[in-house]
Amino acid sequence: MTLINGKSKSSEHNPVPVVYTGNRITMTRKDLLLKVFLGGTAALVIPSTLTSCSKDETEEDNGSNNKVTIDLSDPSNATLLNPGGTKVIGGIIVANKGSDTYAALEKRCTHDGCTVVYELSTNTFPCPCHGSVFSATGTVLQGPAVLPLKVYPVTKSGNILTIG
Ligand code: FES
Repeated sequence: MTLINGKSKSSEHNPVPVVYTGNRITMTRKDLLLKVFLGGTAALVIPSTLTSCSKDETEEDNGSNNKVTIDLSDPSNATLLNPGGTKVIGGIIVANKGSDTYAALEKRCTHDGCTVVYELSTNTFPCPCHGSVFSATGTVLQGPAVLPLKVYPVTKSGNILTIG
């Protein structure tokens, strides 16, 4: 719907996409949808750009979701060889839980977005900002966060970790 001088007109009958009415700018539904679509496209493109992988990490598109593989024999991933070691890859924190097991969780605390860390002695992911604590399965153990962290499946084959 477009407002021209305070009166509504159907966008299908109005060829003018943007109308200035004193102190208000309005647009047609088509233009609004176009802006939303373009904004949505940018939102879909930006995360994949931000989570681009270095040569020792690869991202595969299997058609339904993305998988990240980490080569543990690469020196840049050496922190993941030690129990308690972590590495942040894109929006995911990967942690070595000991006994050759790993966890991968969304790194952004659901309270206010800080990056969580891993605590081997308690097998938890505390948030350094306001004290929330998450289990290795993403459950909130202590607030102020109320929503869990997303957990990604991790498999290990030889020196390759596959997340997702
Ligand atoms: S941002 Fe994590 S507890 Fe506030």
